[in-house]
Amino acid sequence: MNKSKVYIETYGCQMNLSDSEIVASVLNSAGYGLTNDPAHADVILLNTCSVRDNAEQTINKRLIHLKQYQKKNNKLVVGVLGCMAERLQMQLIENKEIVSLVVGPDQYRSLPQLLNDAKNGIKGIAVELSKVETYEDITPLRTEGISAWISIMRGCNNFCSYCVVPYTRGRERSRTIESILMEIRALNKQNIKEITLLGQNVNSFKDPQTKQDFADLLEECAKEFPMMRIRYMTSHPKDMSDKLIEMMAKYNNICKHVHLPVQSGSNRILKKMHRVYSVEHYLGRIKKIKDLMPDCSLSTDIIAGFPTETEEDHQMTLDLLRQVQYDGAFMFKYSPREGTKAYEFDDDVPDDVKIRRLNEIINLQNSISAEKNQSEIGKTHTIIVEGPSKKNKYEWQGRTDTNKVTIFPNHNLTHKMGDLIKVKINRCTSATLFGEVLEG
Ligand code: 5AD
Ligand code: SF4
Repeated sequence: MNKSKVYIETYGCQMNLSDSEIVASVLNSAGYGLTNDPAHADVILLNTCSVRDNAEQTINKRLIHLKQYQKKNNKLVVGVLGCMAERLQMQLIENKEIVSLVVGPDQYRSLPQLLNDAKNGIKGIAVELSKVETYEDITPLRTEGISAWISIMRGCNNFCSYCVVPYTRGRERSRTIESILMEIRALNKQNIKEITLLGQNVNSFKDPQTKQDFADLLEECAKEFPMMRIRYMTSHPKDMSDKLIEMMAKYNNICKHVHLPVQSGSNRILKKMHRVYSVEHYLGRIKKIKDLMPDCSLSTDIIAGFPTETEEDHQMTLDLLRQVQYDGAFMFKYSPREGTKAYEFDDDVPDDVKIRRLNEIINLQNSISAEKNQSEIGKTHTIIVEGPSKKNKYEWQGRTDTNKVTIFPNHNLTHKMGDLIKVKINRCTSATLFGEVLEG
């Protein structure tokens, strides 16, 4: 039998990457093959993001581009999955002729049925959100590598005023610790050396049966898999408990990196963003992390130009960056999202001011990142070999415990994927470290 082939393209956050592995698994079980080439696909699925307007514009352009494949294969089925499917629902079917399938993040089990219908010319939509769906019984179909994403919870209850996620991904729900451990046990038998526990807000994780929290889950993972590196993201500052920080400090195999989105350095803006913490609380969490783990790396997310943001508020954000000294940051211009609370506010910071403030934030952070990386020169790090770097097949890369990409020479291909090696750092850019492998 000639298997139908599916091509999946993923946009947005790590949760979407993890969801695409679930989608691949569901379709594989239903008899579909997978391809990396859209030109050879019978079905093209775009797993989309809605977090900012430009994420959606990228998809709109991609949908236009995909028409070339439909011209060559008039049976081609094109579907939109993920956050944009959930946000726009029927509008996608009504306004985009090419789209015959719209499936939201909680409806991936219905894909085989919907694809059958679509092949028979019946357009389909499934966007209901669930209070319980976690896909915990589905083993994601992962691409090869030494690192695996594990989605431990879905959805979000925080309703930050700018954010579309509670509307596109629904309410928070966690898997059981037992189902997570079972998944890691299977990965441990393969060549997986590093896992990242994923969720919109992992530190509000709660096992639905035992009521254990995220720190408990980390401890169970760290104890049972002492040879694996354990990472997690993303955390909310309000849930960054002492217990969680102490747990990170207690186990060597819990990586010393915290991604803690702050969004703004002004208490007035934080309040309008409905972040429910103050700058003082946030800095208290950072102090606790630095006190217990002096070498822990830190990263954050920042939004520039939120409604009513003044020059003074902006300066407070710059001051906070100087004070915390993050290793890295994701920095964005505020983008109003229909349906959110902030959409009702006047988007009153002019675009040129937003861009200027964003650039000031990026320039400052880049110089801090560069300085922090400079201080790594001469230090030795243990890294897990991931594979060839993007630029040169004899220059390979891995990541430090603190999540810094490190490039090293591998001319004779002595070092293999998954090896643990010691590297002495000898130069850097603001984003990358470079080093020599130490023998033994
Ligand atoms: N505009 C700009 N940035 C946003 N983010 C979320 N919503 C918006 C928005 N409407 C950013 C936040 C969040 C990250 C994932 O995306 O910084 O932490
Ligand atoms: Fe991920 Fe949020 Fe984008 Fe959805 S909207 S893909 S949850 S970043």
